[in-house]
Amino acid sequence: MTRRLSTARTAPRPGAAAAPASPWWRDAVVYQVYLRSFADGNGDGIGDLAGLRARLPYLAWLGVDAVWVNPHYPSGGADGGYDVVDHRAVDPDYGDVADVEALVEDARALGLRVLLDVVPNHSSDQHPWFRRALADPTSPEAGRYHFAPPSEAPPNNWRSLFGGPAWSRTPDGRWYLHLFSPEQPDLNWRDPAVAADFEDSLRFWLDRGVSGFRVDVAYGLFKDAALRDNPGSYSPTLFGHGPEQAMTWDQPEVHDVWRRWRAVCDEYPGTMLVGEVCLADLDRVARYSRPDELHQSLAFRLLKSSWDAAAFAEATTGALDAFGRVGAPVSWVLGNHDKDRMVSRFGGGAVGTARARAAALLLLALPGSAYVYAGDELGLPQAHVPEAARQDPIFHRSGGARAGRDGCRVPLPWNTAPGLGFSPAGAADPWLPVPAGWERHAVSRQAGEGGSTLTLYRRALALRKAHPALGSGAAEVSVEDGLLTVRCTGAGGAVRCVVNMGRSTRLVAGPGRVLLASTSRVRSSGSSLALPPDSAVWVTEG
Ligand code: GLC
Ligand code: CA
Repeated sequence: MTRRLSTARTAPRPGAAAAPASPWWRDAVVYQVYLRSFADGNGDGIGDLAGLRARLPYLAWLGVDAVWVNPHYPSGGADGGYDVVDHRAVDPDYGDVADVEALVEDARALGLRVLLDVVPNHSSDQHPWFRRALADPTSPEAGRYHFAPPSEAPPNNWRSLFGGPAWSRTPDGRWYLHLFSPEQPDLNWRDPAVAADFEDSLRFWLDRGVSGFRVDVAYGLFKDAALRDNPGSYSPTLFGHGPEQAMTWDQPEVHDVWRRWRAVCDEYPGTMLVGEVCLADLDRVARYSRPDELHQSLAFRLLKSSWDAAAFAEATTGALDAFGRVGAPVSWVLGNHDKDRMVSRFGGGAVGTARARAAALLLLALPGSAYVYAGDELGLPQAHVPEAARQDPIFHRSGGARAGRDGCRVPLPWNTAPGLGFSPAGAADPWLPVPAGWERHAVSRQAGEGGSTLTLYRRALALRKAHPALGSGAAEVSVEDGLLTVRCTGAGGAVRCVVNMGRSTRLVAGPGRVLLASTSRVRSSGSSLALPPDSAVWVTEG
């Protein structure tokens, strides 16, 4: 029996029909570049802006609309660039401000937009403000962080997301708050100087032509004013934070910040903000994308769902319904720099690869925008990184109990030459070791190959652009014994994306025309299609 879960429109509502065209970001495909691992232009083994610039034609060829670049700012190096020392500068590892300007210009010439990452919840402990605050507890800079007077015990029971308590001591015995690593002191957003400085930083980059920002930890910033204990402890298996973490996240005041940032973006037409909002309750996530707040909030449910049709259906309908209620498009995500690669999450090997390919067709069919993590289009698995080479504070702070995120951050394989084209010939070793056999995933190997994952993504992206029912319009999700069907309707008719997440081959009735399949093993069977397990198909109706 088919259970119809939901019908949701994510296209602009009729009331908005007077607006010219739908803004670009509503159905954009955004390609996430982990800068350090994408392409090394100068041969020091570290990906950089020059390397990314040189590879922009690849992204245009692939068919994405925009590039989101993980933090490129000078950083203390404690958390992959998420410990920022100066938001209006570029880390010398990556280049300089002129390189960002050149990147934006080259991207524009290729029809691509550039989004940067902005990190407002915390700074680096090397930030001049924090250094001054350490040196002088009475300085104005000390008011921009959360300090507590010396005492035996920390001020409350808050825990760092990376492990251990969220409070550390300064050399003079005070406590300071860090919800991530101790090198990432949390900023005090009740101090107006903090807000003013971030608005300057937004304008600094918007004046240089960027099309917007991914906002790190957008559900953070404000903390309970009385620093009360949290009722429960953080569990990394949750979909996101919930009431057990009520004092640290999702405070009502934060929404005013997004209203102000939205107003800044409104001064720069065509720009947008997409927030990282890791909350368990999808309605609370969607609230960050009310019409006068962030344009989008990343929807992480699919990323956190195991290979199960009911789980996927729930993640999909939950997001369509919640974002639909606030009139925002869903921003779908299946991979990023914080989670294991989907090939490995879905079982690894041939099975994991088949499932990741099928999931890609779902991602690119759903109405809304889609975020593709660099390397997912190559079908990269999670890499094994030897412990001695691991960089991630999650690995180190958990005493090795948590593997950390290095395995989804290793350099991309571009070709089969020594160094795999990540760096120029004769360069230093890459900053993270590349696993043996990585060349089998190389862009150069997959580009001309009909059955490759890269070709599948490229075809899917081209079809999505050409077919109005894909990526925008309405979606109706149903699930039946492991078979997930999303019926997408738009001006040009309807397309069904059918994913077989069950264990046996299933018949898909009345298929119409097959636009694309994730496997070559789809067969006609009378008027139906036989869809093997772990595969997906796009079929037109009629
Ligand atoms: C976000 C980033 C993650 C980082 C954390 C702290 O979750 O995606 O990589 O470690 O924020 O800034
Ligand atoms: Ca470099």
